[in-house]
Amino acid sequence: MSAPDDLLWRPLGPSDHGAVLALHRTVMAGLAPDVVKPETADFLAEMLGPRGRTIGVFAGDTLGAYGILQHDVPPADDPRAGLGIACDRPLLKLAGASVAPALRGRGLQRALIAARVALAEADAAVPPLLFATSAPANVPSWTNLLAEGFGVRALKPYYGGYPRYVMVRPVAPDAGEAESVMEGDPARQADLLNAGWHGIAQRTGPHGPILVFARRTTP
Ligand SMILES: CC(C)(COP(=O)(O)OP(=O)(O)OC[C@H]1O[C@@H](n2cnc3c(N)ncnc32)[C@H](O)[C@@H]1OP(=O)(O)O)[C@@H](O)C(=O)NCCC(=O)NCCS
Repeated sequence: MSAPDDLLWRPLGPSDHGAVLALHRTVMAGLAPDVVKPETADFLAEMLGPRGRTIGVFAGDTLGAYGILQHDVPPADDPRAGLGIACDRPLLKLAGASVAPALRGRGLQRALIAARVALAEADAAVPPLLFATSAPANVPSWTNLLAEGFGVRALKPYYGGYPRYVMVRPVAPDAGEAESVMEGDPARQADLLNAGWHGIAQRTGPHGPILVFARRTTP
């Protein structure tokens, strides 16, 4: 493995399509779509071209990680109406990240989230709404999104019926009340989300990962 200082970060473009597709297929091996959404070669080409911006991290000449920022979000993915958020608010999606197995556990996914947030905010005339979806079973993914300022606002089926947390940044201020719910208790989590709470932190309990909820003060 390379030391973090040896890694080179750069924006990716159409000529990187083969490397992105190969890394995506590597990380997807053995993963079910209820954990990570499998992407098509065409979707990745669009994210490296007109519909997104993608950041890559290289170890030498080899692509070791990437993160996608999608600025052209299809209506079926758009969470604004369902969350009571104005539909003219600029919207961008963090639309997938992969880290090669040899580079995992070094904070690269979290750093790729932070880099895409910075990219989205630098480009915007008004602060955009950022969102991402994350499978409850993909604990590293939603832990990293929470750590970078996203909050869980909904738990609903996405991508053909797979459960996903809908995670939004910035989060509304909370009223300070907190309740912790096991990752494996989706019914209680859905009740809290529907009652105006949001998920704001992760911690590990004696029986597995826990999502900490707080009551929101504003819609
Ligand atoms: C998910 C994935 C991107 C994580 O990449 P990574 O660079 O290793 O992640 P990071 O090092 O940034 O962070 C991992 C964090 O999750 C935490 N974590 C990992 N497994 C965990 C678990 N089972 N329970 C709780 N926390 C866990 C780690 O503690 C770490 O947090 P820390 O740095 O505070 O200790 C990588 O495993 C991957 O490519 N998976 C397949 C594709 C995927 O899931 N993409 C994301 C959704 S699109």
